[in-house]
Amino acid sequence: MCGIVGYIGQDDTKEILLNGLEKLEYRGYDSAGIATLNDQGVHLFKVKGRIAALRESVDNSIHATMGIGQTRWATHGVPSKENAHPHQSASGRFTLVHNGVIENYQDLKAEYLRDIHFASDTDTEVIVQLIEKLFTEINDTAEAFRKAMSQLKGSYAIAMIDREDHDTLYVAKNKSPLLVGLGDGFNVVASDAMATLNLTNQYLEIHDQEIVLVRRNYVEIQDLNGQIIHREAFVAQIDASDIEKGTYPHFMLKEIDEQPFVMRKIINEYQTEDNQLKLDKNVREAMNNCDRIYIIAAGTSYHAGLVGKEFIEKLAKIPVEVHIASEFSYNMPLLSDKPLFIFISQSGETADSRAVLVKIKEMGYPTLTITNVPGSTLSREADYTLNLYAGPEIAVASTKAYTAQIAVLAILAVDTAKTKGFSIDFDPMQELAIAANAMEVLTAQKDTIEELTRKYLDTTRNAFFIGRSTDYHVCMEGALKLKEISYIQAEGFAGGELKHGTIALIEEGTPVIALATQENVNYAIRGNVQEVVARGASDMVISMKGLEQDTDAFVIPRVHELLTPLVSVVPLQLLAYYAALHRGCDVDKPRNLAKSVTVE
Ligand code: M6R
Repeated sequence: MCGIVGYIGQDDTKEILLNGLEKLEYRGYDSAGIATLNDQGVHLFKVKGRIAALRESVDNSIHATMGIGQTRWATHGVPSKENAHPHQSASGRFTLVHNGVIENYQDLKAEYLRDIHFASDTDTEVIVQLIEKLFTEINDTAEAFRKAMSQLKGSYAIAMIDREDHDTLYVAKNKSPLLVGLGDGFNVVASDAMATLNLTNQYLEIHDQEIVLVRRNYVEIQDLNGQIIHREAFVAQIDASDIEKGTYPHFMLKEIDEQPFVMRKIINEYQTEDNQLKLDKNVREAMNNCDRIYIIAAGTSYHAGLVGKEFIEKLAKIPVEVHIASEFSYNMPLLSDKPLFIFISQSGETADSRAVLVKIKEMGYPTLTITNVPGSTLSREADYTLNLYAGPEIAVASTKAYTAQIAVLAILAVDTAKTKGFSIDFDPMQELAIAANAMEVLTAQKDTIEELTRKYLDTTRNAFFIGRSTDYHVCMEGALKLKEISYIQAEGFAGGELKHGTIALIEEGTPVIALATQENVNYAIRGNVQEVVARGASDMVISMKGLEQDTDAFVIPRVHELLTPLVSVVPLQLLAYYAALHRGCDVDKPRNLAKSVTVE
């Protein structure tokens, strides 16, 4: 959600900024812009829409060696050229890009900026106007920048250029992600290392409420009082080829296909040489010492949490509650005496989850983050982290992160059960390896799934996914996948719950996709299928080998009953993919959505 790139060095900046912004497209955006600075002044280009349109609008004859750019996902003000970043102060001296939300922008406007004419509806413009206002009083850009930052409430990642200073990018961060990349004779700023990985793999973390003065040959981190902070750089552990599509038409398809490899990677990472489970001893202790687990997550990660609850309760016998992050803070349940909070987040940046983490830390409870991005905010701020090892997930629709989350939760549950001395008849590594093979069988059956998509989903306006027990949770994920990328209205329902109201929506031809992978509910779910068929539904049953019936549309290979979500989700991911493809939707960048949701 929103992405920032900045560069100061020797080379021409336009291409570096545009290239960087393209790498951040996956985060989701609806307008974009860049500003460069040279002896002729600031050159500003902004568009509503895609980077391709921005590229068209840029004057290629301009040469400049410093600049900033941003992709905007609208919060305050509609997506438009006027509201696109960068924004400028009234005199045009200061030009700034911002990710995040300034909560007190109206107060600041009323208090300091009553006489200023605003060119946009954004909260961002208040920041740049405030800096200029403070600058007119103190005549020192760094000081005005610092002072302005200490007035802001909310989240921000900011990069700014001063028309009269050709040697500095002014950078600041609070709650929104931002990194400084270090080069030889140049330095860069990026919301995500992926944007500038072609230039450097050395990065400096910026902490909340820090200011950074980024120059061509050095970088100075300060706190809000101007005190200098020293920090070592780290090497970004991403391979540039991981963020390329290769021969795939879409990242989503590539990421679906990568799932078996991710399973094998997880098996490797969480196993010692003598085949014992390998887990941080602090995580073990935290799991062992708690009396109840609270899983906090959003979207697909929440759905993985629902599956994780089953693992932990069934195997480790610890009660688990799974909460939607954005609801938790406002409706906190009564907590147990010794709670452990587990945050599940692919990106590690989800603002709703982070808001809960901040609150829980204030309350002093232990916290564990399960994430795909080790240096992310949720990872840094929680007491402990478990990595997903899924590799960068670029498509907005989460696929391989979901299955990685489930695999890591299974390992965590088994490890805890063993630490507690419970005897369990489930070898997670062996069963994960079987699941990985099954995933491979399924990803080779794309033609069959594409045919099913044509038959059931190509022309429909809505669809239902039904299942019971574990299958119900996978149905919720299948429905989310379908709606977010194909825009077909879809709901995941507990099979037994339909008759309590929702069955009224079933009409002649309504597609109902039913999962039947659980032996104990196989008859029950098939009864629910008959109920909808009797009312005209077009049923597509996806069952598991051993539980199948002749009329089933698709049968997945047999895997351990606990791990069926890893496998049953694959056809659902592919159904969503083909439905979006057949409808001409932008599969990797669905409308209105962002990959990393950094606003609450
Ligand atoms: O990065 P996170 O896992 O915290 O993201 C949570 C949700 O925003 C995310 O899972 C979202 O629902 C995906 N677009 C689903 O495909």
